[in-house]
Amino acid sequence: MLDFVFHNPVRIHFGKGQMVKICDEIEDGKNILITYGDGSIKQNGVYQEVMSLLTDKAKSLGKKYNVFEFSGIASNPSYEHLMTGLEIIKSKKIDFLLAVGGGSVIDGTKFLAAAAFYSKGKDPWEIVLKRGRGVERALPIGTVLTLPATGSEMNGNAVISKKSSKEKLAFYSPHVYPKFSILDPTTTFSLPKNQIANGIVDSFIHVMEQYLTYSVNSPIQDRFAEGILLTLIEEGTKIFKDKDKDKDKDKDNLSENYIRDYNVRANIMWAATCSLNNLIGVGVPQDWSTHLIGHELTAEYGLAHAETLAIIFPSLMHVMREGKSEKLLQYASRVWKIENENENENENENENENKIIDLAIGKTREFFEMLGVKINLSDYGIGEEAVNKILGRLEKHNLIKIGERGDLTLEKSREILRNSL
Ligand code: NZQ
Ligand code: ZN
Repeated sequence: MLDFVFHNPVRIHFGKGQMVKICDEIEDGKNILITYGDGSIKQNGVYQEVMSLLTDKAKSLGKKYNVFEFSGIASNPSYEHLMTGLEIIKSKKIDFLLAVGGGSVIDGTKFLAAAAFYSKGKDPWEIVLKRGRGVERALPIGTVLTLPATGSEMNGNAVISKKSSKEKLAFYSPHVYPKFSILDPTTTFSLPKNQIANGIVDSFIHVMEQYLTYSVNSPIQDRFAEGILLTLIEEGTKIFKDKDKDKDKDKDNLSENYIRDYNVRANIMWAATCSLNNLIGVGVPQDWSTHLIGHELTAEYGLAHAETLAIIFPSLMHVMREGKSEKLLQYASRVWKIENENENENENENENENKIIDLAIGKTREFFEMLGVKINLSDYGIGEEAVNKILGRLEKHNLIKIGERGDLTLEKSREILRNSL
């Protein structure tokens, strides 16, 4: 195992009814800015519940908050829109941010938290360009998570897009970890099926980016990772397994028994958080190439984050198999139960291992398809021209030697993209 420092300061309140803890967490007298997206929280009642807690419940506890709102933080949160939120923070002297929503709302709020203290006269986009270096302070953040996927509720990362230059870049700062996050699985009952599926795929790939590298003798990290993968497969299958039997596939009536099953939702929610809260990534090498290439696909073509991952990751396993073979074989055996049954004596070990790896890649693709997430660029009407466009973007962002060994060159990216068509 590699040396590491592990510190995660986020307090998690997990379970039905835990939203009530908001008032315990936020000090009396704060000027709170509630940040949210396009209104899903008004439709599912989460907004009303948060508001009532911050007013009536707070009053019953002898507290009084001044509550303001900033909405419209859409998927792939944009710098341009967030800058309008920064004006509210300054004019209303906001001293606490409460993000209510999915990863985009939480990421956008992290940007606002850091931008609030960013040096006068400097453009806060620098925070992103410098990947978070230079952030010395941030406003405190709390979150109410409504979409299990990104892990943003329990990490210090954010991914922000700039519409004018079609860029999508990530930053990290220890100052933007939420102080607390509320994870109530019942808030996820209102998710449309494609968002549930996207969340499962995103979490799955977060684990794989930290697991599918090379072995450093870290069995506990491997087993944490495999446990999350197996949970996502089992629970995801419960929700989606009968989808092809539905008469009307566009209706949200898949596996009725499970769609509102609290335990299924709870397991998916905690699995998603644990996929990217740093724990499984310490002490082991990490990859993140699928994400880096995927972000460029979102910036260029507007595909949802998880859609890009489901396209790139299977091809990346295929192209980068040599350096990842030991872990690929372990993944095949422990996650997909593919056993080495080399009955053909004429076949050499190498060919046999390649067959096993191909089977594991096939199983991964089947899983994404079972969830209803497409696995080829052509499924989105994107053709050959994408290859050079994305390579140009990778080069512009200096992503020319990525992966756990820095051996995923532009040529390898080309192969991966061609393989994804
Ligand atoms: O905007 P609203 O109306 O809230 O609707 C959202 C949005 O349309 C909706 N939604 C959320 N909760 C819901 C709901 N609809 C019904 N019921 C609910 N309970 O779902 C849609 C997607 O929301 P979004 O927040 O965009 O999804 P997600 O959580 O997948 O976040 C994606 C963003 O996170 C970034 C991605 O790049 C992308 O920008 N990531 C952040 C990471 C991090 N901070 O660590 C890591 C990830 O790898 C990822 O890159
Ligand atoms: Zn992701």
